[in-house]
Parts: sequence; structure tokens; C-alpha cells
Amino acid sequence: MPAPLLEMRQIVKSFGSLRANDRIDFEVRAGETHALLGENGAGKTTLMNILYGLYQPDSGEIYWKGEKITLHSPRDAIRHRIGMIHQHLMLVPNLTVLENVLVGLRSPKAPLLPVRETLSRLEDFAVQYGLSVDPARKVKELPLGLQQRVEILKALFRGADLLILDEPTAVLSPLEVEELFAVLKNLVSKGVSIIFISHKLDEVLRISDRITVLRQGKRIGTLEAGHATREILTEMMVGRSIALDRSFPKGAAAQPILELKNVSLIRPKVGRILKNISLTLHRGEILGVAGIDGNGQEELADVVCGLIPYSEGQMLIEGCPVLNPTPQKMKAAGLGYVPADRQRVGLVRNFSVAHNLVLKSLDDPPFNAYGFVQEKVVRLNAQQMIAEFDIRATDPLQPVEQLSGGNQQKVILGRELKLATRLLVAVHPTRGLDVGATESVRRFLYSQKERGVGILLISADLDELLAMSDRIAVMFRGEILGIVPGERAFLPAISRMMLGEHLEAVVQ
Ligand SMILES: Nc1ncnc2c1ncn2[C@@H]1O[C@H](COP(=O)(O)OP(=O)(O)O)[C@@H](O)[C@H]1O
Ligand SMILES: [Mg+2]
Repeated sequence: MPAPLLEMRQIVKSFGSLRANDRIDFEVRAGETHALLGENGAGKTTLMNILYGLYQPDSGEIYWKGEKITLHSPRDAIRHRIGMIHQHLMLVPNLTVLENVLVGLRSPKAPLLPVRETLSRLEDFAVQYGLSVDPARKVKELPLGLQQRVEILKALFRGADLLILDEPTAVLSPLEVEELFAVLKNLVSKGVSIIFISHKLDEVLRISDRITVLRQGKRIGTLEAGHATREILTEMMVGRSIALDRSFPKGAAAQPILELKNVSLIRPKVGRILKNISLTLHRGEILGVAGIDGNGQEELADVVCGLIPYSEGQMLIEGCPVLNPTPQKMKAAGLGYVPADRQRVGLVRNFSVAHNLVLKSLDDPPFNAYGFVQEKVVRLNAQQMIAEFDIRATDPLQPVEQLSGGNQQKVILGRELKLATRLLVAVHPTRGLDVGATESVRRFLYSQKERGVGILLISADLDELLAMSDRIAVMFRGEILGIVPGERAFLPAISRMMLGEHLEAVVQ
């Protein structure tokens, strides 16, 4: 058997007392797409920065094409034909595509930029790899998907037998992800090997030949993708099994909780932000709302929660029209709201965890009696919720701003789930969370659903919507273009509606 293209052996890297990489073995075969999977902080980027010569390992060895090598800087890595696309793109926004590709290519022997040659080679690449992009465009004018393409071109230009992509899909829309995958498949067919870093299981299962899982700096194992399942990978990533099944009873004939009938939101000068929105959310149902950010989803949430008065149409809760909804009225009707902008709307940063957990109920019994906040009750409630929602706080009276982002999110979620006795509106509830926290948030949502709460789940993560929703409504420019079952088979239709195609055209 030929030597693997790359072998990293017993790599150790510490930052102070933290072992970011703890004796990691990692191997890539020629021609394979090898995914590196792990939660945030697992050590993926560190390992790849070592391979790209950005960090020196404390110990361990790297074998490349069968020979031991030492990488002092990215220059060494590039010389060995190892390329890396960083998590945060590193292009110069004000330069053109061509100029960006040329940056750093100037050698002392050729002081003049080989512009014409570069242009024709760029064209070759475009044809060969399906990587077309206008070389004269300024990078800042390009959408992120194309900027990433420029980074890939740049790496290929310098010569790459191995391309490392660190969380390349994190910034992409679903359609751009598809395009990236097509490019990667093309690269592999031309003999480039790929290390694909992600924490999204579906992507990893789709694109890779083998998968190596890291957890807390250690390599947990390597699997053939064909032998892996979501469950196995999740367990490897987080060290415990998490059931994400959809075996709850479906509320088919269930009673409507929320109905919107031709609801529009019109802003003077701007025009219609929401256009004739009609939908019904049933008891015990999760209705997903898909759409590229900024197509009216957040306004829809604000309207349902009474934060913005709608201009036309009708809203009903359990069949009764709600006239002039306000946040207070909606709360009284049993609504909980997990807003998109949690820093601004969700928490009072210098208040304690305990007070944030009852922020909206400080005037209500049992937290208030005779006009006084009952501190003891507030604290007892916090102790119970901290346990229930696995909030990592040292003390109920710790200021909420000292908690990690994920735990702040759990505080809002816990509070709003308690308020949501009938209806929950959740906007990007797992955005920015690692896998463990994401799974616990999803579990909270499920348990609420099982109790009969209707959930309007607005998310930009299609995998999440498909995993959770009974039905999915797709929004485009303030309109619902279609509502489809929350099944993977409808993914192409959903993707196309997100870009503005009408359902009739999509489904034909
Ligand atoms: N330059 C650094 N200095 C200190 N700590 C770091 C540095 N880079 C990474 N770490 C820490 O090492 C751990 C692994 O980080 P990283 O490799 O970025 O993980 P991943 O890419 O899997 O999310 C984290 O706890 C992170 O905070
Ligand atoms: Mg990383």
C-alpha cells in the first residue's frame, strides 16, 4: 500500500495550560476528501494551522508524501503544495480578483506582475475546475461565495495537492454550499486531496470519504463516511448519545393556535415589508420559516409577538381575533419569544442570571407580592431552572454578562419557554451555539411541542429546519412563496423558493 499523502503523528500543541492538540494522529490519503469534525474548541483549526506552518507543534511529526517535513511558515507549506482557506477569508477587499490572486506571488526574479499570463491561467482554471469569476471585479463587490472561490483559486494558483478548508460553509447560503460542493468534487476528480472542516454533520456525511472526529484536543476516531451515521458522529463529538428523532405524535387534526390572514406590514417610503401573509400554526406543531436573512422573517416574528403593529389583515389566537396586539397582550395569551438579537432584546446584561430568568414576570406573582420583588422566590426559581436547562453559572446571582454566549442563550430560552404555554416564536434559536448546546435547545423545543405548544421556528439553517419542522414556509421579499412538508425531499424546492421562484414553477 502506498504511503499516505499526509501523516501527522502524535501532534501536541498547548496554549498555556490548555492542550489544544493532545497527541493527535491524522492521515490523509491521496485523492480523498477527509473531514475533520468536532465541536467549537475541539482543536481542528489548531491542528490545521500546524499543518499550514502557522503554528509550531510542541512535539509530533509531519510526513508529507512519505517524507518527514518541518514547516516553519505558510511559505514552507505552500512550497510543499499545501493550501489553506481560512475560516475568515483573507482577501484584500479593495483589490480586484486578479490583484488578489497575484498578491504574494511576486518573486525577486520577476519584479513585474505577470498579468497577462495570470489572466490566461485564471481562464484555464475557470474551465478546468468550474471556478469562474470575473478577474476585474473588486473583491468587496462579490458575494461571500464568490470571495471564497477567489481564495480557492488563489490557493490552486500557488499549486495545491492538498487543500484545507476551515469551516468553508459557515458563511454560505444553501445554494452557495451546493456550488462549493460541486467545485470540491471537481477538484478531487482532478487529483486534489481535501481536508474539510465543519461541525455540520449532514455536510460532512455528504462530502467526505473519511471522517476524523476530535473532542477536547484528542482524536476520538476515524470512520469511513459510509459507516457513519449522525448518531454515531454526534456521540463521538460530544461524548454522549443524543437522540434526535422525530417520533413524537404529529398534530394532524390538531386545533389551530395561531392564524394569520392576509397580514401585511407597510412602512412609509419603504413599502410592503410583509405581503399578505397567511398561515396556520397548530397545537403541537413546529412550523419552520425558511428564507435568506432579511426577507421579512424577523418582522414576521415581531408582528406575531406584538412588537410591531401590522398594517392590514387579521391575527387570531385559538380562533379569537387579537386586536392591536402588544407584547403584554401576547404574553398574557401564552406567547414566548426568543428574538434574533439576543444581546439587545433578550437580556439585561448587568442583571443576575436569576433576574434575567424572570425578567418579564417581575410584576407577577409569585415573583412579586404587594409591589415588592420576592428575591427568595426569584432565587429558588433560578436554582431550579439552572438545573433544568443546564445553564453553566457559578451562582444564580452571577451577572448574566459573565456567562458564555451559549449559556446566555439558554437563559433566554429557559425564560421564554416558561412563558410559552401556547405559542413560541423562536428566531435562530441555535445560531452561534456549539453542538451540545444546540442539541439541548432543540430538546427544549421538542418537549414544549410535546406539551402542545405551537412553535414558529425561524431559522437560516436548513438542516435545522428539516430536522425539526412538521412543515416549512419559505419567505422571499416579505411573501410566503410556499409551504411544504418538513422533509428532505423538499430541499431543492425550498432552496429555489428562497431565491424567489414560485412554488408552482418549482414543483412541476
Ligand atoms: N492562539 C491561541 N491562543 C490561546 N488559545 C488558543 C489559541 N488558538 C486556539 N486556542 C484554544 O485552543 C482550543 C482549540 O481551538 P481551535 O483549534 O480553534 O478549535 P476548533 O477549530 O476545533 O474550534 C480552544 O480552547 C481555543 O480557545
Ligand atoms: Mg476552528
